[in-house]
Amino acid sequence: MHILVTAGPTREHLDPIRFISNRSSGKMGYAIAQRAVARNHRVTLVSGPVALAAPEAVELLPVVSARDMLAAVERCLPACDALIMCAAVADWRPREMAPGKLKKNTMQPVIELVPNPDILSTIAPLKGQRTFIGFAAETDDLIANATDKLIRKGLDMIVANDVSAADAGFGVDTNRVSLLTPSAAPRHLPLMGKEEVADAILDWLEKTVAANARR
Ligand code: PMT
Repeated sequence: MHILVTAGPTREHLDPIRFISNRSSGKMGYAIAQRAVARNHRVTLVSGPVALAAPEAVELLPVVSARDMLAAVERCLPACDALIMCAAVADWRPREMAPGKLKKNTMQPVIELVPNPDILSTIAPLKGQRTFIGFAAETDDLIANATDKLIRKGLDMIVANDVSAADAGFGVDTNRVSLLTPSAAPRHLPLMGKEEVADAILDWLEKTVAANARR
């Protein structure tokens, strides 16, 4: 299978040195890319700025902003069989990016934001027979909020990620997730290393694609 994986944060610049972003380290997305390659899949990894080395044999496409990530995903998707959208995409960006460093005495104390495109919703019409997996980073009402995103974004599976615990979600090596699909009961996984979570997601993806091929 050729799998398109997104990872890391996006950065939304105010000027060349200041930006809005989030705490994504890229560890979860890079673990998926690494385990997918180990399982003999071809992987294209669209990554926001992170301090990780790309796994060997992965085709790495570095991006900065949400709009860069959308353009890279749109470009790569036609050649891929599945998308795993693990990136923590910034929902908002400053209305304008100054070409040079903003001076303290001329900067406005309020930053005006405009919404970024939702990547999954934008590419939904390109889905065709491809399998789309998203993530939902939630601090409350995990299953209800993730189920809403599963349906609203037209996904085959969503990985519901409780990011309120210190040992799961952003920045750490472990994660605690539930796998949600439109037709089955949620599968709650225990605390695991991110590679093990990646394997659980890839197990589901491989089984689902094989079952669809038999139909
Ligand atoms: O990188 P780590 O430090 O290892 O942390 C891993 C993680 C916490 C970032 C990861 O496990 C995770 O939960 N990723 C999803 C983060 C997120 O942005 O969730 P969301 O609930 O805001 O978005 C829902 C889905 O829509 C996601 O698949 C997201 O990639 C996608 N999205 C979001 C915003 C946007 N503008 N376009 C999108 O496509």
